[in-house]
Amino acid sequence: MEKQVVLITGCSSGIGLGLAVRLASDSQARFKVYATMRDLSKKERLLRCVKDCHVNTLEILQMDVTDQQSITATAGSIKEERVDILVCNAGVGLMGPLECHTYDSMKKIIEVNLFGTISTIQAFLPGMKLRKTGRIILSSSIGGLQGVPFNDVYCASKFAVEGLCESLAIVLQHFHIHVSLIECGPVSSNFMSNLQSCDPSDRTFQSLDSDTVSLYTRYLQHCHTIFQDVAQDTDDILQVYLEAIEAPVPSLRYFTTQFFMPLIRLKMPCASGSDGGRSIITDPWKGYIQGYQ
Ligand SMILES: NC(=O)c1ccc[n+]([C@@H]2O[C@H](COP(=O)([O-])OP(=O)(O)OC[C@H]3O[C@@H](n4cnc5c(N)ncnc54)[C@H](OP(=O)(O)O)[C@@H]3O)[C@@H](O)[C@H]2O)c1
Repeated sequence: MEKQVVLITGCSSGIGLGLAVRLASDSQARFKVYATMRDLSKKERLLRCVKDCHVNTLEILQMDVTDQQSITATAGSIKEERVDILVCNAGVGLMGPLECHTYDSMKKIIEVNLFGTISTIQAFLPGMKLRKTGRIILSSSIGGLQGVPFNDVYCASKFAVEGLCESLAIVLQHFHIHVSLIECGPVSSNFMSNLQSCDPSDRTFQSLDSDTVSLYTRYLQHCHTIFQDVAQDTDDILQVYLEAIEAPVPSLRYFTTQFFMPLIRLKMPCASGSDGGRSIITDPWKGYIQGYQ
């Protein structure tokens, strides 16, 4: 059987690394994985994790999702000249009172999480449309569905990704391309240590009002407790990605944890329905799509 070609962004650590290892080590060798990362000097960890079982199933390529040239070069390096499953996973966090963020730090988050995702999809979408098949899977977040204190810009970037995908999903059904958002809750990865946060010794932070400082301090403690109590291991959530990859007709949304569902259901009653809320997105547009077919 021909292998499915998978390209994953952000494979130097965390979810991307775990997914690359899991797919490249598939017992039936169903996948050829292109694990991409912006800094190839970090590839040893991935190589250590796959050990020897990757001879024909894994290639590691450099790709920075904010660098158009590197995306184009990566797309040109795919030997099979196609990507069947695109996993847009690269992402960064930004935490702190809004007043403390510099324009550049906010721009970086939007550039990676939103424009990086868009540019990656743009690079591989024409091929999928031509072949009239494909899957696009995104590492999204509960923070893309509900606000999280002191994560305003991160949430804005993930809310934007949600809107991007809901919009794309409508038209892409015509091409039999399935878009799936994996709504992750807290995951024990490098995410918290990699995220940008305000420097308490910074002048902007020092000039904050005392209420904001104390709310932020309380939030940091709360966040620490939440991560301690409910954060999932990367390996535990990979099963959800596999579900999206293997489903004959994948849902629009998959939730890695039930912890936030009571709130999510209030906001999106159909989010966890049998089709992952796909119908509520596509139904209003059915006439438009069917009229075209
Ligand atoms: N961990 C959580 O609690 C959590 C919760 C909800 C959603 N998510 C989402 O899950 C995804 C993966 O996060 P994670 O938990 O696995 O965290 P992680 O371990 O920090 O992984 C993030 C990955 O993104 C990469 N990356 C950052 N900027 C990039 C760029 N410009 N181009 C290419 N790659 C870039 C990082 O590479 P470098 O090593 O080079 O920085 C790293 O490989 C993110 O989209 C995140 O928003 C995570």
